[in-house]
Amino acid sequence: MQFKLIYISPNGTTEKTTQVLKNIIEKDGHAVEHINLGRGEYRQDFGPILETINAADIVGFGAPAYHMDMLEPMKMFLQALQSAGQTYQFRAFLYLNYGGITSGKAFSNTAQVLEALNIPVIGAMKVTAPHFHHPDPFPTKTTEALIGDFYEAIKAKDFAPIANDRQKELFAVRKKRVDLLYPLVHIIGKKRELPITIKADRCKSCGKCVKECPVGAIRLDDAVTIEGAKCIHCYHCSVACKLGAVAVPVEKLDTMIKLNKRIIGMESPLNAIYY
Ligand SMILES: Cc1cc2nc3c(=O)[nH]c(=O)nc-3n(C[C@H](O)[C@H](O)[C@H](O)COP(=O)(O)O)c2cc1C
Ligand code: SF4
Ligand code: SF4
Repeated sequence: MQFKLIYISPNGTTEKTTQVLKNIIEKDGHAVEHINLGRGEYRQDFGPILETINAADIVGFGAPAYHMDMLEPMKMFLQALQSAGQTYQFRAFLYLNYGGITSGKAFSNTAQVLEALNIPVIGAMKVTAPHFHHPDPFPTKTTEALIGDFYEAIKAKDFAPIANDRQKELFAVRKKRVDLLYPLVHIIGKKRELPITIKADRCKSCGKCVKECPVGAIRLDDAVTIEGAKCIHCYHCSVACKLGAVAVPVEKLDTMIKLNKRIIGMESPLNAIYY
């Protein structure tokens, strides 16, 4: 069978999840293509991906949760799938990396789009992963085991779709509080995006941040500038620049995480597979 893993991963943990999945599927004798929506030409143009997507039997959609939903480029890709007006012949699964606070509406919103496109969903997986400014080891043995279990579970079912009714039940937002807080956290989170400051005296114009920004929001002319309307505030540029020329007040992010933990609480179970 032919698999495609289409993902976005500004800070690399979803990419690592993708790599583990890819190795497992390939070991089982299948072909796997992995496509990072935040790299190279795909940042500007999903056309080439859409042209060949029907060559796959199964497509995995992978993204991190940001502000209680799938990160923007994945939402844009799902919109592009809708706008292309094609009939899709593949089956799909979803995988989500998140901080454990809440997967929010990431699954339910995505499953809704796939249902509207008549793309059968065969499974989903959520994996907790460290924040970009807390570089704990990832993936852990537990994560690798979970990803292996997920693949074995969907394979044991012969990659059969989950019935729509069961899907709704599985991907429903379980906590009433999450449902209530979603609009609030989503809007406040977006409004409280952290300032990103370029320290011109430290910048050596190497272009690394330009290359690694997942949405192509950074320009390097005489100086580095960020196009505010394009930026999705993933803060990867602050990690990419090894010279400390991109400053983000991460302590404010920690305060926000603490607050979210208090208001929303940690999700239970933290890691899970659905099939
Ligand atoms: C701005 C921002 C918003 C986030 N929002 C959430 C969230 O709503 N729920 C959650 O559990 N984790 C949240 N996270 C944590 C990320 O989902 C987590 O770090 C994920 O592993 C990042 O994936 P990546 O390494 O592939 O970019 C957020 C992180 C950032 C930087
Ligand atoms: S990565 Fe740092 S040094 Fe390189 S261009 Fe970007 S800001 Fe400048
Ligand atoms: S410019 Fe914005 S989108 Fe690009 S890496 Fe920096 S924070 Fe992320």
